[in-house]
Order: sequence, then C-alpha cells, then structure tokens
Amino acid sequence: MTTAATRPERGQTLELRIDDLAYGGAGVARHEGGYVVFVRDAVPGDLVRAVLTKRKRHYGEARTVEVVEPSPERIPPRADHPGAPWQVLPYERQLEVKQHQVDDALRRIGRLDGYELEPIVPAVQEWRYRNKLEFSFGHDADGTLICGFHAPGSWEDIVHVEDCLLQSERGNEVRRQALDWARGQGLGAYDRRTQAGALRNLVVREGRRTGEVQARLVVTEGTEVDTRSLSEAVPVESLLVTTIEGVGETTMGGTTEIVAGSSPTFREELSGLDFRLSAQAFFQTNTEMAEKLYATAAEFAALGGHERVYDLFCGIGTIGLSLAPRAGEVWGLEIVEEAIADAITNARANDIRNAHFFAGDVRLAMRDLVEKAGRPDVVVVDPPRAGLSQKVVRRILEASPKRIVYVSCNPTTLAPNAAQVVEAGYVLRRVRPVDMFPQTHHIECVALLERA
Ligand SMILES: C[S@@+](CC[C@H](N)C(=O)[O-])C[C@H]1O[C@@H](n2cnc3c(N)ncnc32)[C@H](O)[C@@H]1O
Repeated sequence: MTTAATRPERGQTLELRIDDLAYGGAGVARHEGGYVVFVRDAVPGDLVRAVLTKRKRHYGEARTVEVVEPSPERIPPRADHPGAPWQVLPYERQLEVKQHQVDDALRRIGRLDGYELEPIVPAVQEWRYRNKLEFSFGHDADGTLICGFHAPGSWEDIVHVEDCLLQSERGNEVRRQALDWARGQGLGAYDRRTQAGALRNLVVREGRRTGEVQARLVVTEGTEVDTRSLSEAVPVESLLVTTIEGVGETTMGGTTEIVAGSSPTFREELSGLDFRLSAQAFFQTNTEMAEKLYATAAEFAALGGHERVYDLFCGIGTIGLSLAPRAGEVWGLEIVEEAIADAITNARANDIRNAHFFAGDVRLAMRDLVEKAGRPDVVVVDPPRAGLSQKVVRRILEASPKRIVYVSCNPTTLAPNAAQVVEAGYVLRRVRPVDMFPQTHHIECVALLERA
C-alpha cells in the first residue's frame, strides 16, 4: 500500500525498472512502496530515468527522459517514426506481448476463462503495410513547411517524415510531391496554437490490390488552391481537396471537391470482392490482414448457407458482403450514411443480392431491425474502440442469436462485453488475435460466443 507520503510528486524524476507492458503501450514499473507507474517510451527490462507527469492515488504516469540501462531485448529502431513505437522490440516479442494482453484483459477485466486462446496470426508485412495514412502539415524551427506526424504527446508540434516506413514507396512519393507543390505555392501550415494558416492534413490512400492512389488535401476555409498545378504536381488516380471550417484537428466533415479523377470514391479489392468507399468512410488500414481477419470471422460464423446474419457496425459492408455467399441473408447496420450508400453500391457491383444495408445507430435501431428482418442466427459486431454499451449488448441478447462473432480492436472493452454475454448464458469458445498493426501497440482479435 502506498500513502500520500510515499507517493512520488508530480514533476519528480524517478529511476524505474520496467517489468511489463500495459495495454496502450506504456511500460509498467513499481516505485518504492509498490506505487505503479506507467512509463512512456520504455520496454520491459529497461532501467530508465522518467519524469512523473500524472500522480493519481493508485498509479502514476511518467515520460522517459533517459534509458540508463537498455533492456537486453531492445533492437535498434529502423525508422524515426512516432507511429512505430514498438519497433525497438523484435517482431516475435511484439506478437507474444499482444497475445498475452488479450488473455490478460479477458481474465482480469472480464473474469473469463475456459476459452481457447488461439495463436496470434502474424502480419504478412511487418513494414509498409498501411493502405491509408493521415499526415499533418507544420513548420520546422527555420519556418520551412514540413509534412509528417504530431510529435508524441503533442497536439501542436509536427515532426517531418521523409520516408514513412508504414507506407509504400508510392505513397511516400505522393506525399513528397504534395509537399513540394505546397512549398512552391508559398502556402503555410495551419498553426494549431493560433488557429490560423492554410494547410492542415494530407490523407493518402492506396489500393494494395488495385494500385489506385487517392490523395486528399485538407485546408482551412478560404484557402485558394491552384487545382491545376496541384493535379500536375500530384499525378494520382483520385485527387481531392477538403475545405474545413472548424478549429479542431480533424479530416472529417467539411466540403470536398474533386480535383482530378472521375469519382470521390476509392477502390480496393478484399477477399476477392471489389469495394468502393467514400473519402470519409471507415476501411481497415491493412488490406492483407483485413482478409485474414474476415476469414477468421467467417470461420467462427460457421455458416451453412441458410443463416440470417446481422453485420452490426458494418462500415461499407466488407464483413457482411464477404459472408453473404455462405449465408441465407445478411443485414448490415451502420451509423455513417455515406458508408451505407457505399455498402449498397458494393453489394450491387459484386452481384450480391442477399445483403441489405441500413443507416442507423445500433443503440436505437436494433429492435426495428429485428422487427423488419427477423431474429438473426448469427450476429457479427465490429464496434469502435469503446466497444459496446451495456444497452447494445442487451439488445443483441434480446435477439437471441446462436452465435455472436465479436471483431474487436480493443481487448479491454471486449472483455466486459463478453462477460455480460457470458452472464446471459453464452459460452466464450475461441479467441484469435490477428496482428493488423506491427510496430504499434494496437491489437485486433476475433471472439466466438455461442448460446449454451
Ligand atoms: C471498427 S469500424 C468497422 C467497420 C467495418 N466492419 C469494417 O471492417 O470495415 C466501426 C464502424 O462502426 C460505425 N459506428 C460507430 N458507432 C456506431 C453506432 N452507434 N451505430 C452504428 N454504427 C456505428 C463507424 O462508423 C464504423 O464504420
């Protein structure tokens, strides 16, 4: 037990030995008296000097200022990249940690056991795997326009990136072309402190199967963009400019204009199907691993050709459409209307006639869906990181499916959701992690819950 007297003070520099990695990526250490400190930029085995940035009753948070004794596990980083914090751990070790974190969340948070935790599916590519990256514009110390990522933990400082190792060579080329064009035009970056300035973000999407590239420049309202020179400087299949009014850092919303190409949608192939998606619709960022994720969902759904399947949080319909040939019928529900319009187009384009898609909030629209479609045999859910609210879980339980296939991007929210489902009489049978995001702490997994 620590007391206020034995707890370190905020701002104090501590010497800490890291002995674990927490979900979210921070190293875990115990200060004198057992006070738990989550330490950024540290891995198990490191001895670090770290400044305490947050002091709570039961735990603190700290930022590493010096690695005094590096962990024997550490390997040299390949890239100066804020988006790849786990690159200092060998890939095998990253997989081991993720596998353990899924198990730990289910056991500790969900108090679950008796399930089969299957080996994590490793990534096909450990680097250059992303089909989408969002970059931010900024200025370096000399005032030169740069394009890269937010510095770790900073909302206002941008670090330049020359070769982003999470993106393909072609995607990098597109970013450099856009930056050269912007410098040539004398445009400045949006200043997050004063909320003035033109260039905010550059979103680059690349179809890994189709080879199509889409670049979307996000600018502040009132910015004059010379679209002709932009389309000459950045020769991609689809070039868009989005104008945003607000002060928050977001690439969503605003007004989007097509500068080059015939359509604002982006095309990618997945599991043998053709998908088009609107600029702001969700799409898994690792194409190769999305196929493995959906194949796992299909395996767990174990369809025999006659089932009614709900695809909740369906986005542009990727999971539902890949299951449709093995199902009786598929019903998709998603809150973003644009994404549902894409899902309907995608069903038609792939000649899938047994899939139906509706725009709506799962929290409010579940009962209507059951009334309209009938009770589901299988429910697939793929919610955002926050997981399902207790009410959504209750609505799913009311519909009484035989199987629930839960695709999760956060084991710490999967765990309480799965516990609520188990409490209602289901059995958690299998859980299979799939590594969609090498070099980062992000974990994806698929869980199968069956009515007992
Ligand atoms: C993790 S994505 C999954 C999308 C899709 N299953 C896929 O694999 O591409 C979560 C989706 O849930 C949608 N969403 C978020 N909150 C929602 C809600 N309350 N009701 C319905 N859909 C929601 C988001 O717009 C997003 O498309």
